[in-house]
Amino acid sequence: MTREIARMVNPALQHIAPYKVEGGQQAEIKLNQNESPFDVPMWLKEEIVGEFIKEPWNRYPDILPYQAMNAYANFLGISPDMVMMSNGSNEMLYTIFLACLGRGRKVLIPEPSFSLYEKLALLLDSQIVGVPMHANLDFDVEAIIRAARDESVDFIVISTPNNPTSKSLSLEEVRLIAESSDALVLVDEAYIEFSRQRSLLELIHELPNLMVLRTMSKAIALAGVRIGFAIANPALMQEIAKPKIPFASSRLAEITLRKVLANYSLVTDSVAYILHEREKLYTAISSLKKIEVFESDTNFLIVRVPDASDVFERLYCAGILVRNVSGYHLMENCLRFNVGLIEENQQLLAALSAL
Ligand SMILES: Cc1ncc(COP(=O)(O)O)c(C=O)c1O
Repeated sequence: MTREIARMVNPALQHIAPYKVEGGQQAEIKLNQNESPFDVPMWLKEEIVGEFIKEPWNRYPDILPYQAMNAYANFLGISPDMVMMSNGSNEMLYTIFLACLGRGRKVLIPEPSFSLYEKLALLLDSQIVGVPMHANLDFDVEAIIRAARDESVDFIVISTPNNPTSKSLSLEEVRLIAESSDALVLVDEAYIEFSRQRSLLELIHELPNLMVLRTMSKAIALAGVRIGFAIANPALMQEIAKPKIPFASSRLAEITLRKVLANYSLVTDSVAYILHEREKLYTAISSLKKIEVFESDTNFLIVRVPDASDVFERLYCAGILVRNVSGYHLMENCLRFNVGLIEENQQLLAALSAL
């Protein structure tokens, strides 16, 4: 950054890199963004588009997509004023961080976690209290509780199951963390549909400082439509909504959500498929020499190889795009790939075996 430009922009930008996806977003076998390998079926897309073309495109949608929020609240069995929808959960992360952080505020982030948390905290000039995972990538619950208390943090953000480690906390462990602190505890459940653990939604009425984040981009297979949700008690939600971008969710996103929820067996079927394939992949990779595979609670697996850059390149040349997550704390020489279709997983396995 030149000095002239540095003068014009927020000084925090000096510490922030633009978001990029190594290897791009195109590949014969694309396993690098934890997406669902199953697209929404054509008959349902046609139904959605059929409804969308009857909408007035010249008119703004509602300030917030109330119809979709009602549908999701109904789906979860909670009251609509506990739910807010966003244009992807990334947009909700911006909203929540804006609502909770700023200069002089402290945020606890387990390390490594989803990279956007750190970026937003830096952007908002807040102090980050990083708490490293154990060497086996498990959360260090005691260290989180201790750091939250000793540093008097204002905000705790936990991705469980966690991207990029694929590890989870139990409901009881999150309860302990939330009960031992008066900070707002944001639990990002982007991968909860693939988890062996119970969702924290069960405690949403009980813990006044708990907020849950959900995305429709993973198990629900709507990454291209951009839908996320936050869930919390109504009083907290009312405050969090203040910095929300108005009109951020399109009429199309609203219709899509309603229609997909009405056909939710599509999701449960694909989750069952992915879980079955995850276990097959885990067992098969466990038997490969020189590759360590971590037990996963998500739709992706983490492996440690002798040389991650070399393996990334070789897979890339074979048309298989994975994510090199070696740059993350404690994840030297680790690669991440999501579970794909059976044939894709077989090709990945063959390529790893050949190495
Ligand atoms: C933990 C976690 N949270 C949030 C997101 C953002 O998802 P989206 O903006 O597509 O809802 C991701 C995406 O990879 C993620 O891994």
